[in-house]
Amino acid sequence: MSDLDLAILGGGNMGRALISGLLRSGTRAEHIRVGESAAAARESLARELGVAATADNSAALAGAAVLVLAVKPQDAAAVLEPLAPQLQRERPLVLSVAAGVRCAQLSAWCGAGVAVMRAMPNRPALLGAGATGLYAPEQVAPGQRAAAERIARAVGEVVWVPREADLDVVTALSGSGPAYFLLLAQLMAESAVELGLPAAVARRLAVATLYGSGLLAQSGDRDLQRLRAEITSKDGTTQAALEALAAADFRGAVAGALAAAARRSRELAIGETRGS
Ligand SMILES: NC(=O)c1ccc[n+]([C@@H]2O[C@H](COP(=O)([O-])OP(=O)(O)OC[C@H]3O[C@@H](n4cnc5c(N)ncnc54)[C@H](OP(=O)(O)O)[C@@H]3O)[C@@H](O)[C@H]2O)c1
Repeated sequence: MSDLDLAILGGGNMGRALISGLLRSGTRAEHIRVGESAAAARESLARELGVAATADNSAALAGAAVLVLAVKPQDAAAVLEPLAPQLQRERPLVLSVAAGVRCAQLSAWCGAGVAVMRAMPNRPALLGAGATGLYAPEQVAPGQRAAAERIARAVGEVVWVPREADLDVVTALSGSGPAYFLLLAQLMAESAVELGLPAAVARRLAVATLYGSGLLAQSGDRDLQRLRAEITSKDGTTQAALEALAAADFRGAVAGALAAAARRSRELAIGETRGS
């Protein structure tokens, strides 16, 4: 990655996370140029991360091998359309992290012959612990796929999905997933308070348990069902809790939640396309 020039258009939360991750993983600051409309953000990017930041997206893009589109979905057209002639001349890979903006739409804004692909990261990427789904249409070259993967890997785990529609499921699983775990931790803490623990103690224990469970799930054997069985003694406390969850159709509730999120992701994408 150290030999590729990158243009990151949108230096907000996700743009910054990617830049920080890339710098941590060995990309030199002089290989990153940021196009960012907010003066305060440009100043802090330059001061804190040492990257060149400009209000001129065309200048940021000049000579870049990869354009990372990291503006809000509703700003994507305003960024890409004016750059179309330059994109068609210079032919960088356009890697969009804009949620719900389809490749067909990106291609329409960029113009014929420009390779476009999508990444769906999640909020923990801001801490370098993200989970990102990548999708690339067939015409994206292997070298470009590798470059995109290295960029996404700078902020955490990366998986490829074979169909663009799979990104709606990625959105439902890892995109929205942090909120489900946070809700579970919150409800556990609240229940512990009802059972007698002080609120601050319950919160600390719930958060530490959430964090530790993530580490446990990452360690060694990755079969989650087997891992859970290992920490569930027969007729013990954990089994009693898991039986109560099963009786309340926890599995059905989770399945319904992911289906609702995937459905909403599809609806939002249709809305973005119509609105553009
Ligand atoms: N944050 C997440 O957890 C997350 C997770 C998954 C995907 N994403 C995706 O990542 C993208 C960025 O999200 P974010 O949270 O980083 O948003 P953000 O913090 O608002 O960052 C976007 C930045 O782009 C700037 N911008 C707007 N128009 C521009 C233009 N024409 N040229 C250059 N810069 C421009 C914005 O400046 P102004 O503030 O002046 O408008 C802002 O600083 C979104 O498409 C989102 O779907 C984010």
